[in-house]
Amino acid sequence: MNSATKQIAIFYGSTTCYTEMASEKIQAELESITSEKGIQAEISMFDIKEHALEKSTQYDLIIYGISTWDFGELQEDWESTWEDIKALELEGKTVALFGLGDQLGYADWFQDALGMLHDELIILGCDIIGYWPNQGYKFTESKALSDDGEFFVGLSLDDENQYDLTETRIHEWCSQILEEWTTDL
Ligand SMILES: Cc1cc2nc3c(=O)[nH]c(=O)nc-3n(C[C@H](O)[C@H](O)[C@H](O)COP(=O)(O)O)c2cc1C
Repeated sequence: MNSATKQIAIFYGSTTCYTEMASEKIQAELESITSEKGIQAEISMFDIKEHALEKSTQYDLIIYGISTWDFGELQEDWESTWEDIKALELEGKTVALFGLGDQLGYADWFQDALGMLHDELIILGCDIIGYWPNQGYKFTESKALSDDGEFFVGLSLDDENQYDLTETRIHEWCSQILEEWTTDL
C-alpha cells in the first residue's frame, strides 16, 4: 500500500438494500471526485453484518451509513452491534454520516437512527463532518437535527419520496465532505 494514498471506508447497515445502494453511489462519487482533484485515495465499502465496526478505526476518513426502522428504531445490524460503538477508538478521527429514511411515511421519526448514531459517536471525541441543510424535506420531527435545528447531522436520503434527488445530493455531499476533510489534512 502506498503510504501517500488516503484510505476512506464506508461502513453501512442495510435491511432492504437502499443504504447499500447509496453506499455504492457514494463510493463511486468519491472515486470520481478524488481522481478529478488529484487526491490519492482508495475507497472501500463494508457491510457491518459481515465486518466488525472496530475495523473502521484504521481508516483516515470513516463514513457510516444507517437507515431508520420501526418508528424511530435502529436498522437491525446496527442494533446488533450497538454496544461495540462505545469501545471504538475514534478520538481525533474524522467521521461523516449518512442516513436513509421516509419523511412522509414516518414524519415523526424521520432519520432518527442517524441522530442516535451521531450522539453515540460524538462522545468518543471524533470530528464529525458533513452536516447537511434540512431544507427541501417535509417532516414533523427528527432526532437527526443539529442543535440549531438547521442541519441534519449527516446526509439525509429518502429513496421512497425523493429518489430523483438522491444522485445530486450524494454528489454535493461528497464534494462537501472532501472539502471539509482535506482542508484539515
Ligand atoms: C416497516 C418500516 C418502518 C420504517 N420506519 C422508519 C422510521 O421510523 N423513520 C424513517 O425515517 N424511515 C423509516 N422507514 C423507511 C426506511 O428507513 C427506508 O425504507 C430505507 O430506505 C430503508 O433502508 P435499508 O433498506 O437500507 O434498510 C421504515 C420503513 C419500513 C418498511
